[in-house]
Amino acid sequence: MLEHTTHDKLFSTPLLRYRVADHATLNAALLEEGARLRTASPGVDKSNRLGWHSAGNLFEETAAPFETLRQVAEEAVLDATRRVKAKTDPASLRLKIFAWMNANPPGGFNAPHTHPGAHWSGVYYVSQPEVETGNSGMIEFLDPRSDLPNWRLLGAPAFRGKKKLRPAPGEMILFPSYLVHWVYPNEADDERVSIAFNATFRKRREE
Ligand SMILES: [Fe+2]
Repeated sequence: MLEHTTHDKLFSTPLLRYRVADHATLNAALLEEGARLRTASPGVDKSNRLGWHSAGNLFEETAAPFETLRQVAEEAVLDATRRVKAKTDPASLRLKIFAWMNANPPGGFNAPHTHPGAHWSGVYYVSQPEVETGNSGMIEFLDPRSDLPNWRLLGAPAFRGKKKLRPAPGEMILFPSYLVHWVYPNEADDERVSIAFNATFRKRREE
């Protein structure tokens, strides 16, 4: 009597993960350059609670490791844009990437926020202290759909409403900038260091 015909998944939210090969050398160099910037600048207060958030665009720094990471971020953003089947070739657009470094000491975390105005937001993990259990240093994404609590009773994975993960050093994650996210307090004894960025496409001006 009843025949199932289709099951569409509307309005999905992409979360992409990448791994940088041979990241140990890059990460050591990023930590060193980050420490150098930190002695020169008190940083700024954004979503960070405790910790240090670098001022200005890290990808405009001339130090080689920042330039390397900028190229990696650009490659990831172009790849992700193709994977979501963009009709416009992203390489034909102007791409602006603004990056900053987050250093979370023990107890440090980032309050829930979005990155309005960009297309993709990303995080590259430079140092992620090992912890046995718990949520220490995990990033958590909150479902942008409204009225989800009503669905909790059914326990369907598609309506869980939250997704947390603890990427390893050398991993880069990308997600749409409108997605609310936050970072659990660092319960390790060591600092957690990441480099976050916003990537925005604009039409190329006619030359
Ligand atoms: Fe963020």
